[in-house]
Amino acid sequence: GMGIFTYDPGFVSTAACESGITYIDGDKGILLHRGYPIEQLAEKSDYLEVCYLLLNGELPSPQQKAEFVNIVMNHTMVHEQITYFFRGFRRDAHPMAIMVACVGALSAFYHDSLDISDPHHREVCAFRLIAKMPTLAAMCYKYSIGQPFMYPRNNLAYAENFLHMMFGTPCSDSKPNPVLAKAMDRIFMLHADHEQNASTSTVRLAGSSGANPFACIASGIAALWGPAHGGANEAVLSMLQEIGDESRIPEFIKRAKDPDDSFRLMGFGHRVYHNFDPRATVMKASCDEVLKELGKSDDPLLKIARQLEQIALKDDYFIKRKLYPNVDFYSGIILNAIGIPTNMFTVIFAVARTIGWISHWSEFHSSPNRIGRPRQLYTGVKQRDY
Ligand code: SDX
Repeated sequence: GMGIFTYDPGFVSTAACESGITYIDGDKGILLHRGYPIEQLAEKSDYLEVCYLLLNGELPSPQQKAEFVNIVMNHTMVHEQITYFFRGFRRDAHPMAIMVACVGALSAFYHDSLDISDPHHREVCAFRLIAKMPTLAAMCYKYSIGQPFMYPRNNLAYAENFLHMMFGTPCSDSKPNPVLAKAMDRIFMLHADHEQNASTSTVRLAGSSGANPFACIASGIAALWGPAHGGANEAVLSMLQEIGDESRIPEFIKRAKDPDDSFRLMGFGHRVYHNFDPRATVMKASCDEVLKELGKSDDPLLKIARQLEQIALKDDYFIKRKLYPNVDFYSGIILNAIGIPTNMFTVIFAVARTIGWISHWSEFHSSPNRIGRPRQLYTGVKQRDY
């Protein structure tokens, strides 16, 4: 019959699940993973340790950590058949398009050995995914520039190996810069999870039907792609480049405030944070560190970003709406300084967020659950005769 439903477009005030993974207090600007503040994790932990924490609920002992790292690093290769997928794409294809396809394609490689009701099988999925995402991401980049794919090196740390696959070539054996590897690791960590954001909700909903986990993660990648979500880091850099000079900032601020102009300040505002995004604060500090190491402290894009932030934070429009920089306001400047092309930024977000997606997927399947099935308020024509 006709039910009466709560109407909450955009899910502003509806909890779709219970979860014990990540806590956000948007008014205070607090982000906790399994109870640990993001600032402490950023200072003391590393990405794979946070992966373990998100997945298992507790920090690992040194031995558990070594085992975890070892298992993940031993899953880094992709099946050789995956390389043929790449050949079907244009060299100038957007890497997010390739990622949606290739991660979806992984479901064709592991569907036989998969019982999603078995915690060990779910764990193996998690291992495979977090291990293979950087490999696929680097393959996208190598393909776009016409260089051979680099095999992973399992004796390197996770972020180090990623930089090796991105920037190494078979004819050189240079090791990635440790300061850049650390910055890369921190970017992965700061994007690891963020409770029920659009892409994670997508993965949960896809997973609720019992679908193949690799296919579910592909749906998360698709949802992440848009500029209102993970595509923002790419959009921020394009925006800073378009602004080009500090003198043009007021013009762009004016456009962002104009209700008749669709332009928005990319990297600004957040559905949950009405205060500083704590990840943005860490990111900004990391940005200063990296540019200093590279001797690029007077980077023109950084200058524009800093100035833009200052002007926006003093402007009534942004103050009234409590719009602050989010995680992606400064990440692009770091990635740009590391030498990563702009169209790879959202791919890096996807690599990092994979642990969040798979942890939520696994949490969903480890507790009593049912298929997600929102209702609607019907606004179409009433019954009529043909
Ligand atoms: C991520 O949800 C997550 O947790 C996501 C994420 C994660 O880790 O998973 O944190 C990652 O997606 C970060 C957000 C990246 N997106 C951007 O940086 C794009 C720019 N930001 C916005 O489009 C926007 O702020 C959103 C999408 C982030 C949030 O959208 P909401 O919650 O739907 O808010 P809204 O669009 O209704 O904005 C409220 C008001 C509006 O003004 P009024 O109509 O009330 O007058 O604030 C204005 C908006 O126009 N506004 C902005 C603005 N963001 C909001 N005005 C100018 N520039 C902006 N960036």
